[in-house]
Amino acid sequence: MTETTDRLTECRDPVLRVVPAPADINSNGHIFGGWVLAQMDIAGGIVASREVQGPCATVAIEAMQFLAPILLRDIISVYAEVERVGRTSIAIRLDVIATRDRGEQEVRVTSGLFTFVALDDNHRPRPIERETRLA
Ligand SMILES: CC(C)(COP(=O)(O)OP(=O)(O)OC[C@H]1O[C@@H](n2cnc3c(N)ncnc32)[C@H](O)[C@@H]1OP(=O)(O)O)[C@@H](O)C(=O)NCCC(=O)NCCS
Repeated sequence: MTETTDRLTECRDPVLRVVPAPADINSNGHIFGGWVLAQMDIAGGIVASREVQGPCATVAIEAMQFLAPILLRDIISVYAEVERVGRTSIAIRLDVIATRDRGEQEVRVTSGLFTFVALDDNHRPRPIERETRLA
C-alpha cells in the first residue's frame, strides 16, 4: 500500500464502492476507462449536489490519470475531496482505489479533478450560497 492509499483509506469514507462486471472488461482483460470515469462522475455528482444543495452538471474533467489497471474481482472505492468552491462551480478531486486479493492489496488506479456547476431551474449556472463557499 502506498502512502497515498494509506491516507485515503484510513482518513475518509469512500463516496461509493462498486464491483465491475464481466461486461466492463476490454480485450486486455482490464476494466474500460470509460466505466471508471462514469463511477467517478457519479461519486463527484453526489458530493457536488450535497455541497451546493441542489442539482449540478459536470462542466470539466481535468488532470485525469489512469495510473494502474482495474481487474475483474477488484472492489473499487471512490474518494472525494472538495478542492475549490467558486461563484457557481465546485472542483472536486476524485481518487479511485482498487482493493484486491481479499483486501491484501490496495492500488490507486485513477485520479482526476472534476468541476461541477450548480444549476437553476432553467439549467443555467446558479450562484452557490455564501455559507457553502466559506465552509
Ligand atoms: C454547465 C453549463 C450550464 C455552464 O454554462 P456556461 O455558460 O459555460 O457557464 P459559465 O461560463 O458562466 O461558467 C460557469 C462556471 O463554470 C466554470 N467553468 C466553465 N467552463 C469550465 C471549464 N472548462 N473548466 C473549469 N471550469 C469551468 C466557470 O469558471 C464558472 O465558474 P465560477 O462561477 O465558479 O467562476 C453548460 O456549459 C452546460 O450545460 N454544459 C453541459 C453540462 C452537461 O451536460 N454535463 C454532462 C452531464 S452532467
